Amino acid sequence: MIETGDFSIDNRLVSAEQSQEDSLSENGLRPLTLAEYIGQDKVKENMAVYIEAAKRRGGALDHVLLYGPPGLGKTTLSAIIAHEMGVNLRITTGPAIERAGDLAAILTNLSEGDVLFIDEIHRLNRAVEEILYPALEDHAIDIVIGKGPSARSLRVELSEFTLVGATTRAGQLSAPLRDRFGIVQRLELYNPEQLSDIIRRSSDILGIPCTLDGAMELAKRSRGTPRIANRLLKRVRDFADVLGNGEITKEIAKISLDRLEIDDLGLDSNDRRMLDMIIKGYGGGPVGLETLASAIGEEAVTLEDVCEPYLMQLGFIARTPRGRCATRLAYEHLGYAVPDTPADSGQMNLFE
Ligand code: ADE
Repeated sequence: MIETGDFSIDNRLVSAEQSQEDSLSENGLRPLTLAEYIGQDKVKENMAVYIEAAKRRGGALDHVLLYGPPGLGKTTLSAIIAHEMGVNLRITTGPAIERAGDLAAILTNLSEGDVLFIDEIHRLNRAVEEILYPALEDHAIDIVIGKGPSARSLRVELSEFTLVGATTRAGQLSAPLRDRFGIVQRLELYNPEQLSDIIRRSSDILGIPCTLDGAMELAKRSRGTPRIANRLLKRVRDFADVLGNGEITKEIAKISLDRLEIDDLGLDSNDRRMLDMIIKGYGGGPVGLETLASAIGEEAVTLEDVCEPYLMQLGFIARTPRGRCATRLAYEHLGYAVPDTPADSGQMNLFE
């Protein structure tokens, strides 16, 4: 049983948010087994052990929390977990479960061992979260029937199930919820070699001819994120069909990505606007995230969840207690002269 919750729509080509087109097309590209899943080696090795142990004991897998930036394969991993355990997967999202009754309906319909995947689990509301606690711990929920003095509480037993929760912000999970996950795994941004393998796997499945260095060129500009790599693959295929002979070569990849205004490190106009504002608007920083977001007309959460992880991995921005600062590497990448004396002493070490 697969049920899909709401997915946000975002037109930004290098956004890691899932668009409707992605959610339709990712299905054909998603690996079904751990062996097919590329990268995240530590997570894979650990999950293989936990899955094998649960299967040998004949019980459900412990509850799993997956966290990390968007687009790294949290939904894919949950589907793999269900597939490897040989159980059904049910997919929903935190904001889609509005009332306690919505969650009760989902929980009472699960069969023995099933995987319930809740994306954006940090966005569950309190009333819903409270239903979840006894469900996770005792496989039961308490339903209140009636109102006032005649109200009665009825305990409903559930099948033993596995909750896989996914979040981009583990810090926002309440402590009682976080503590109920026996398995907590952090997903990391992928390196270009891994992304290149993912692109070659996807191009094989989609029947798109792609050279090794063509795949690597796409990989280097995919911000460490498979969802972006697969999206760029499809856009660059259009350029290859129209401008070339259909094959994605390094040259075609370069021409297309330049036309899409994605630079050689995968930064798009939003990333560059963010860096530009720190450097030109705030003398290199520090500047608070909210201030920065309103200065460039973006949501603070988008900057924090989507732009920042990659800019930090590149070493382009640093988070200090007083705000975000641009580093020497950011100045150099944007072609600005690196200041000898930074505007703020807190930033000093960024220029050494
Ligand atoms: N498609 C998206 N993410 C993937 C991954 N990690 N491995 C293989 N194919 C993928």
